[in-house]
Amino acid sequence: MLHYRELGSGKPVILLHGFPLSSQIWEPVAQRLAQTYRVIMPDLPGHGASNTARGAAASTMELIAGEVLYLMGRLGLEQAAVAGHSMGGYAALALARIAPHRLSGLALVTTQARGDTPEGKQGRYDLAEKVGQGGSAVVATAMAPKLFAESVHPDSPLYEQADAMMRATPAEGIQAALRGMAERADSREMLGKITVPTLILAGQQDRVIPADRSEEMAAAIPGSRLVVIEGAGHMPMLERPEQTAGALASWLAAIG
Ligand code: MLT
Repeated sequence: MLHYRELGSGKPVILLHGFPLSSQIWEPVAQRLAQTYRVIMPDLPGHGASNTARGAAASTMELIAGEVLYLMGRLGLEQAAVAGHSMGGYAALALARIAPHRLSGLALVTTQARGDTPEGKQGRYDLAEKVGQGGSAVVATAMAPKLFAESVHPDSPLYEQADAMMRATPAEGIQAALRGMAERADSREMLGKITVPTLILAGQQDRVIPADRSEEMAAAIPGSRLVVIEGAGHMPMLERPEQTAGALASWLAAIG
């Protein structure tokens, strides 16, 4: 069962964080959206205060989507708008595939529809092995330098905040997420079938998932809106919270 926090009241929006972070990344954006909406922020399996689901060796995107659907059931939500950041976006795409009728809108934040290349998959399995030996710090050290735009100074408190979140993620959660991401499907085929209002939000200087992956999704999802945030990297919700919240608010307003 996922641990979650919620703020505000109104139409529901669920914010899914990326790997290997926690619901805390959404705090500055949630504070803004909560003036109008009910904002629900789960910690994904094996991250934050949520356990690795049922001790699974791999947190597959379908497993994560299933946990989100279960949470919606507990909260009595027939439908919700779902925004997913990076790995959370992979899970949001799985949700759109498994249960499209439960989504009122979809936002894909610094993510992609492509699956891993064979080398990419192998890299994830190798990293999972290393995390088994060296713990969460292995991933925190590898990811930290790429999370933010180059213009973010290394002394910025953003680095400290992200580093603390990553180190707090248990090694088993990180390993299960790495295996789950390695096993994820390529979602490009299904993009043309998405019918709910869709926002695609990219960081112009994203060094983890390049912005052209967002352009690719925008071209394939009928009627979708693409917003590229200038000067932001992989974490626009922390780097440019005002603009990120603004883009999400326009998307939510369009859902009606
Ligand atoms: C994330 O930010 O969620 C992940 O780094 C995405 C990925 O590794 O593909």
